Amino acid sequence: MYFLLKPILFKFDPEQVHHLVTAGLRRFNRFPGGAAVSRALWHMKDPRLEKKVFGLTFENPIGLAAGFDKNGEFIGEMANLGFGYIEVGTVTPLPQPGNPQPRMFRLPPDGGLINRMGFNNLGVDVVAERIAAFRRNAKSYQKGIIIGGNIGKNKVTPNEDAVSDYIKCFDRLFDVVDYFVVNVSSPNTPGLRALQEKEPLMELLDTLQKRNLKNGISRPILLKIAPDLTNEQLDDIVEIVQKTGIAGVIATNTTISREGLTIEGDVKNETGGLSGKPLTQRATEVIRYLHEKSKGAFPIIGVGGIHSPEDALEKIRAGASLIQLYTGFIYEGPGLIKRINKRLLDN
Ligand SMILES: Cc1cc2nc3c(=O)[nH]c(=O)nc-3n(C[C@H](O)[C@H](O)[C@H](O)COP(=O)(O)O)c2cc1C
Repeated sequence: MYFLLKPILFKFDPEQVHHLVTAGLRRFNRFPGGAAVSRALWHMKDPRLEKKVFGLTFENPIGLAAGFDKNGEFIGEMANLGFGYIEVGTVTPLPQPGNPQPRMFRLPPDGGLINRMGFNNLGVDVVAERIAAFRRNAKSYQKGIIIGGNIGKNKVTPNEDAVSDYIKCFDRLFDVVDYFVVNVSSPNTPGLRALQEKEPLMELLDTLQKRNLKNGISRPILLKIAPDLTNEQLDDIVEIVQKTGIAGVIATNTTISREGLTIEGDVKNETGGLSGKPLTQRATEVIRYLHEKSKGAFPIIGVGGIHSPEDALEKIRAGASLIQLYTGFIYEGPGLIKRINKRLLDN
C-alpha cells in the first residue's frame, strides 16, 4: 500500500509531508473503527516478541526513534502501527522553533535524509502534560506501551549551564515516562556534542543519577551517542556508563560524515545530520565495538539505517537488545515494522 503512496509523498517537502501524514493518521485513528483497522493491518501481538530490558517489558523490540514525535502527539497512533515503544523528544525546558525551513532533505538514491531541525519542540511542560493525558486516556490495549523521554538543552543555554536544562527536563518528565535518553549527540545544536567529552559527560550523568530516585522509583537513563566518535572516545563511553551506573546506550544519532553518497547536486552538502542507509554500517560498527569492549555489561539500543529485517538482525547480532527506526520507516512505511517482527519470530 505504502509503495503506491510514497511516489506522491516524495514529490513534496519532507517536513510538510510529515505534518500531513501524522495529521492524516490522527484523523484515521479517531474515525470509528480506524484504530482497530490500523492494529489489524500492522500491529503484532505475540509473547515471543516481548523483551525485558533494563527492568521494563517491551511488547516488541522495535521502537520509534526520537525526532519523529518530538511533542508526544502521536504515541497512540504510532503504537497502532506496530511499534513496541515510542521515544518522545528531543524535549528542551523552554519551547523553541528550531532552525529556519527548509531543514529536512531527502536523498532518495542513497536511502538517506539530512536534517538540521535544531530541537524544534513545544517545551517540557507541554510535552509532559501531553504524555500524562495520553496515559490517562489510553485504551486498555495501549496501557502498557513503553514511552521514553529524550531530553536536551535549549539553544540559548550555554554549555556551562547545560546540566540545569537536563535537570529541568528530567524532573518534569519523571512521573510520565518509563525511561530517559540524554541526548548529547545531535549535530544541530551548536556545541552540544562537546558534552560527549569525558568530564562534562561524567558530571551530567552523575548529577542525573543522583536525582534518580523518587518515591522509591528510579528510571533507566540511557546515553545517546554520535556515530562520529573515535574508538578512544567509545572506550571513554564504556567507562563512563560503568562508573555512573546508567542503564545503557543508544547508538547512534545522525552522522556529520558524507562518505559514500551517490546523489548528484548540492543537497549532500546541506548542513545537518545524515541518517538512513548511508549510516547502517557505521551504526552497527559502533554497537559491536561497545558490546565487545564492555563484554555485554549494559544494554544497547541499536538505531541507524535499519531499512529491512536483515538490517535489524545485523544490529541485534552486533549486540543490540532493542532497535529503533526513523528513516527506514519513512522510506519503507509501517509494513517494515511487521516484516521485522515476523522475521524475529522465524529466527
Ligand atoms: C528529521 C529527524 C529528526 C531527528 N530528531 C532527533 C531528535 O530530536 N533527537 C534525537 O535524539 N535524535 C533525532 N534524530 C535521530 C534519530 O532518532 C536516529 O538516531 C537517526 O536518524 C538514525 O536512525 P535512522 O537511520 O533510522 O533514521 C532525528 C532524525 C531525523 C531524520
